[in-house]
Amino acid sequence: MVAEEGIVKADRADGVNGVTPFDDVSIFERSEAMRAIGTTIDSIADTDATVLLRGESGVGKDVVARAIHTRSSRRRGPLVRVNCAAIPSGLLESELFGYEKGAFTGAAKRKLGYFEYANGGTIFLDEIGDMSHELQAKLLHVLQDFRFTRVGGHAQIEVDARVIAATNRDLEAALARLEFREDLYYRLNVVELRIPPLRDRREEIPGLVAWFLDRFNAQYGRQKRLSPETVALLTERPWWGNIRELENAVRRMVVLADGEQEHAAVVVADGHRGCSTTAPLPPPSEGLRDIVRRAAREAERIALAEVLARVQGDRLEASRILRVSYKTMLNKIAEYGLTRGRDQSGATVAETPAVVVPPAAVADRPRPDVK
Ligand SMILES: Nc1ncnc2c1ncn2[C@@H]1O[C@H](COP(=O)(O)OP(=O)(O)OP(=O)(O)O)[C@@H](O)[C@H]1O
Ligand SMILES: [Mg+2]
Repeated sequence: MVAEEGIVKADRADGVNGVTPFDDVSIFERSEAMRAIGTTIDSIADTDATVLLRGESGVGKDVVARAIHTRSSRRRGPLVRVNCAAIPSGLLESELFGYEKGAFTGAAKRKLGYFEYANGGTIFLDEIGDMSHELQAKLLHVLQDFRFTRVGGHAQIEVDARVIAATNRDLEAALARLEFREDLYYRLNVVELRIPPLRDRREEIPGLVAWFLDRFNAQYGRQKRLSPETVALLTERPWWGNIRELENAVRRMVVLADGEQEHAAVVVADGHRGCSTTAPLPPPSEGLRDIVRRAAREAERIALAEVLARVQGDRLEASRILRVSYKTMLNKIAEYGLTRGRDQSGATVAETPAVVVPPAAVADRPRPDVK
């Protein structure tokens, strides 16, 4: 239908315009958290309830927005996505609501806005937290009765559209700083769906990796397979860039002949950043299987050390965080000769001077800007 700046797609999400519908079912089948979100979406499928999607960058807010539309009674109508952060604030009003011929210099003819394009379907207001205060007021006004005038016009336009909004911002903090209007916040927040970061739903990773592998093999005409060790490594990484970062990692492994070795080396290098050890990079004579096995052990040792440091050596707490039994935790600590610290009983555990990680290292590691 329309493809211009600010609109990624104003398409028929049911594939009518040749858009392949996303693999909707599997999105909500890989973890308990996503299953719960799928259930909520089904329960509001036949309503026009406004949905506010929250979550870090790359967790899948676009994908979920598409699923909400596809599962709703509006699925045959358009899904119009507006990236509020990508449009200069001075233009956003005319982009959202359109303008009349002669409304301003350069307005040679009437132009419809995204709200009008979304008539009969869904409008997805992405990055809503980046909208100017002034436009927030106008948007709120429109959301009251879905009536507005085009810029420079007088006629009242009425649209029938369902609204989905999304943000990766801390809206509550923005409210406190008076950057986001409270009334708009409550108007948008009828149903709030918080999509957890990938590191909190790691059980999805093997399924996602398989899915991306199939997709990229088909796309690039490859028959790449990944070793179980590589999948284990992928499952352990923190993925600050969430599914987008994982997707890019798998794409590299499919496209580059040595993508898998490269990833193993990156994990080793990453793991040693901030540690006092100097990690030898894989010797060139080492085979892939050995490189990956060594990197997997290294990743495990570092994860254990980091978590133990974070919880001041509390082995019970560490086993809970890493989702292993207490017995496995004790065995791993012994296996890797890990740091001295106090567990809940006050007893000390063995220590290695090799890994020096500040307690906040896990949470505060700088996040790569992966898009
Ligand atoms: N469940 C999933 N299965 C497969 N791929 C997914 C899934 N969720 C997200 N992706 C993919 O991950 C990438 C990031 O997803 P998406 O764009 O929806 O994230 P986002 O939360 O909107 O990020 P941002 O805040 O940066 O806009 C996309 O390429 C998307 O196709
Ligand atoms: Mg997005």
